[in-house]
Amino acid sequence: MAGNTILASNNSGKLREMQQILSPLDFAIVPQGKYDVTEVDETGLTFVENAILKARHAADATGLPAIADDSGLEVDALHGAPGIYSARYAGSDGTDQQNLEKLLQQLIDIPEDMRTARFQCLIVYMRHALDPTPVICQGTWEGRILTSPRGSHGFGYDPVFYVPGHDCSSAELAPETKNALSHRGQALKKLVLALKS
Ligand code: IMP
Repeated sequence: MAGNTILASNNSGKLREMQQILSPLDFAIVPQGKYDVTEVDETGLTFVENAILKARHAADATGLPAIADDSGLEVDALHGAPGIYSARYAGSDGTDQQNLEKLLQQLIDIPEDMRTARFQCLIVYMRHALDPTPVICQGTWEGRILTSPRGSHGFGYDPVFYVPGHDCSSAELAPETKNALSHRGQALKKLVLALKS
């Protein structure tokens, strides 16, 4: 399995996290930008469809195996929104801050015990673009949406995602602690086990 595997993302935070967690495997993770792979439209209606679209596109463009993840936040009081639209909740040009403000606004009348939510992460590994049996791993991280932001680590909805076991927001966790608990960390650990076997 030695050689390069393409990461279908140019997010440097994700790249670092994946390289660290996937280091027991004998292949190097290289971001798709290094091979001039363009971004693909995320037209799927589920996390897994979007992850497959991204991995297939990167594998097709490079002729190499590819890994893609798709993730987002599901809020029970909003019937699962923002879900697959988490990155674009406040519009396609919206920032993380605008997404977070919109979320707090939508939940303004919702009491604490009804603010349950979870991050979901789907990771897909495709051996080649036509791989009919991609390796698919899922991680889920349960929490609650705070009424105002706390902490300065992380990104996205981290400042409003309360982590019950640690009594703080995920933006208040040290990055290593977040990686050990998070939806993405869990999905990546499953991927290591699946690819090792
Ligand atoms: P994508 O998987 O890069 O498409 O990310 C989807 C969106 O979900 C991000 O832009 C964030 O808004 C949100 N999200 C996913 N994972 C996290 C996380 O670990 N912390 C905070 N927000 C996240």
